[in-house]
Amino acid sequence: MLTRRSFAASAGIAAAIARMLPEMAYAQRALVQGDLPKDMVWLSANENPAGPPASSIRAMSEVLPSAWRYHYQEFRDFYDQLARSEDLSADRILVGAGSSEVLHAAVEAFTAPDRPFVCIHPTYEGPTEVARALGRTVIRVPLASNYGADVHKLAEAAEQSKAGVVYLCNPNNPTSAVTPKAEIAWLVNNLPAETILLIDEAYIHFGETPELETALVHVRQERNVVVTRTFSKIYGMAGLRAGFACARPDLIARLAPFRNNVISIVTVRAVLAAIAENQTLVPERRAALARTRRNLCAWLRERNVGYIPPNANFMMIDVGRDAREFVSRMPAMGVAVGRPFPPLDNMLRVTIGTESDMEKFREVFWKVYNG
Ligand SMILES: Cc1ncc(COP(=O)(O)O)c(C=O)c1O
Repeated sequence: MLTRRSFAASAGIAAAIARMLPEMAYAQRALVQGDLPKDMVWLSANENPAGPPASSIRAMSEVLPSAWRYHYQEFRDFYDQLARSEDLSADRILVGAGSSEVLHAAVEAFTAPDRPFVCIHPTYEGPTEVARALGRTVIRVPLASNYGADVHKLAEAAEQSKAGVVYLCNPNNPTSAVTPKAEIAWLVNNLPAETILLIDEAYIHFGETPELETALVHVRQERNVVVTRTFSKIYGMAGLRAGFACARPDLIARLAPFRNNVISIVTVRAVLAAIAENQTLVPERRAALARTRRNLCAWLRERNVGYIPPNANFMMIDVGRDAREFVSRMPAMGVAVGRPFPPLDNMLRVTIGTESDMEKFREVFWKVYNG
């Protein structure tokens, strides 16, 4: 017989297993396993080969000998400096091990059995997977014709379902498309009073169009908006695991219990060094990435290969047939590319790496494209 206690225990074990496996799950989802070429070009996970800035590497080296301590007392200053870098006060941010952790916290804090999770489809799967693991109702609405969010459909779904969270990734992963600032503002003004708009800005620094604007303006106006950011992308620190959420202090207070302790002091020092130079680092990296992205777009256009106009450090290429063939064949030829993103079955998601990475990509892609 399944007693309440044994049910709770088994549910607890299932939840624990779900929490233990993400490393393996991510590796598996990337579909790149087995004997891999040593000089593999990694264009599968939207990482940034520019890596941590030199100042961050120096700062990390300096703190390593004292990494035996938690350094708890440094976190107040860390919060102050990080918040200031976005023109916020420290009570309006929450740091996590990557933005994954604070995204997960938001799903846990703001959805409930009667408060569903609403998102566009396809989009970044992390928050949806947490919602499913929690047994929440997940409602997915199709993309707009520009491959960004259809804000009217999102508002309608939120209204009908009494959503706890509407999740919107801008620019969207995997489409690299932007939801224009006016549409985000419309959504902020047209969601039910109890719904939280969770805006994932992991790739916001890579966009150049004036239509792309951070939703932090809505956080500063005290709206029901949580914005998440990460150091994994433009800052090139995916392996260091740092991200943060920005929101009104009362929303941050509801998120905080779902976090785990503090992040690594090595990561803290790397982040502090990076944000100290973000006024030059971010525009320089954005410009370099945009140059490489433009070159790839031009190369595709010359060959009449379609693509979704990109705004992030990855793009969707229309390969004209099931993209799974490229995903499975290219790694053996030295280039790892993104996984399938149904229903966009003919689209191949490719991370923009260095110029030489993309040279190799073009060579291998063209071989597979031509059979
Ligand atoms: C849109 C989006 N949000 C969040 C994440 C999570 O990244 P991290 O936990 O490294 O910040 C990713 C990872 O690729 C992503 O694509």
